[in-house]
Amino acid sequence: MAVTSVTELIARYSGNLPRYTSYPTAVSFTEAVGPDQAEVWLKQLPEAAPLSFYFHVPFCDELCRFCGCNTSVMRQESGRAAYGNLLTEEFSRIIALVGTQHSVRHIQFGGGTPSTLPPATLRLIMSDILASCRVEDGAELSMELDPRHVPQGYPALLGELGFTRISIGVQDLNEKVQQACGRIQSFEQTEACVSAVRQAGVQGVNIDLIYGLPFQTQEGVAETVRRIVTLRPDRLAVFGYAHVPWKQKRQTLIAEESLPGAQERLAQRAVMDEVLCEAGYVPVGLDHYALPEDALVKSAQSGTLRRNFQGYTVDSAEALIGVGASAISMLPDGYVQNITSAAAYARALSENATALPVVRGVERTSDDRLRGYLIERLMCDMQVDLATSGLNPEYFSAEVAALAPMVKDGLVLCEGSMIQVTGKGRPFLRNIAAVFDARRQNLPSAGAVQASSPRFSYAI
Ligand SMILES: C[S@@+](CC[C@H](N)C(=O)[O-])C[C@H]1O[C@@H](n2cnc3c(N)ncnc32)[C@H](O)[C@@H]1O
Repeated sequence: MAVTSVTELIARYSGNLPRYTSYPTAVSFTEAVGPDQAEVWLKQLPEAAPLSFYFHVPFCDELCRFCGCNTSVMRQESGRAAYGNLLTEEFSRIIALVGTQHSVRHIQFGGGTPSTLPPATLRLIMSDILASCRVEDGAELSMELDPRHVPQGYPALLGELGFTRISIGVQDLNEKVQQACGRIQSFEQTEACVSAVRQAGVQGVNIDLIYGLPFQTQEGVAETVRRIVTLRPDRLAVFGYAHVPWKQKRQTLIAEESLPGAQERLAQRAVMDEVLCEAGYVPVGLDHYALPEDALVKSAQSGTLRRNFQGYTVDSAEALIGVGASAISMLPDGYVQNITSAAAYARALSENATALPVVRGVERTSDDRLRGYLIERLMCDMQVDLATSGLNPEYFSAEVAALAPMVKDGLVLCEGSMIQVTGKGRPFLRNIAAVFDARRQNLPSAGAVQASSPRFSYAI
């Protein structure tokens, strides 16, 4: 087999693609699905179905230039508390539809920086959850924190409320990179945050790193990883910087010339992978790493790892219900998303006393379910056997044939009904998944995957 050079691989596969945290992906959401449909789907949830909840808090104490998320600064404590009250209001409308008999497996607070919620507000939300659902033993309760702005007493509060995990952004420790990103965060601040939550009894620590940021170098990312692993987070995410200035205005402050090119991005990713593996971490899916004894690794090994809008998860609940501005719910029948801006979300809840603040969504067809399952298994297990997974190999014969150029490039192996992503193919997982994405404008042949919509971020 001819060996394909890195330059050739990049030329073929470096387009913009969805991250396949769901299928259909969010670009398929339309206003044809609204609050009425969401109500029907919530009411239809099987009585005994375990649920998970995601609470979105779009506020931060300061905005980072590189951040692609929908966030704003809310300085007044009263505004933060008022938003928290909206979360409890939406939550009570959801409970009115699903009933109080459900157990809860995961409760996540993401954003933004959810620790901007005043302590009394967080207590209120947690007590509402406890009053309406049975939180399962071993449930995961997690919150994203900003190590530069951990409110006094918050780690103890998280410990007291039974939180099991925090997730924090580090991205890169190099000063020049941090300046360009508008996020100055010392190693010591990160270390202090990790140690405070651990002392409070919150043992799970997830740290996010990024490659492809302005002025990043291979030596720099290696140094960042070497220092961060000394904190022994049980999980790390290594994301490629998504430069989407057409969507996120603040990123226009990042000079395009300062960004590493595709080849350098791939090399930085490879260096981070090497240092993490040397430090004893196990790669999980596209962009996660975890200590060998971590549940994420165990579930990846047993084929039970899941992928949802929050990324890789061990959560096996049948429905993930999003609460808050822009939050997405993943329900068995389809996906729905709330109104994006916090102001419009507040208006929607106050103008109508019972309706959900849902504005768009998508119903999953039977074809979506098959493709969604296949894509999720590929993203989680790096392989799927069409025959033994209950997927009809005939149904996907055109897509399997379209994988031929990727097989030739050494990214995938296709043997019988088995599709297996190689180690070399791991960075190109999104490209491989895209071949099975029938909702992309043109069902791509593998070589054409790079022809892309600017709504997505770089695949590598
Ligand atoms: C929603 S942010 C919350 C971070 C947390 N509030 C903090 O301050 O550390 C979660 C993660 O999204 C990732 N992220 C944000 N913008 C990104 C971008 N443009 N490209 C890639 N990853 C990004 C970062 O790794 C970040 O840690």
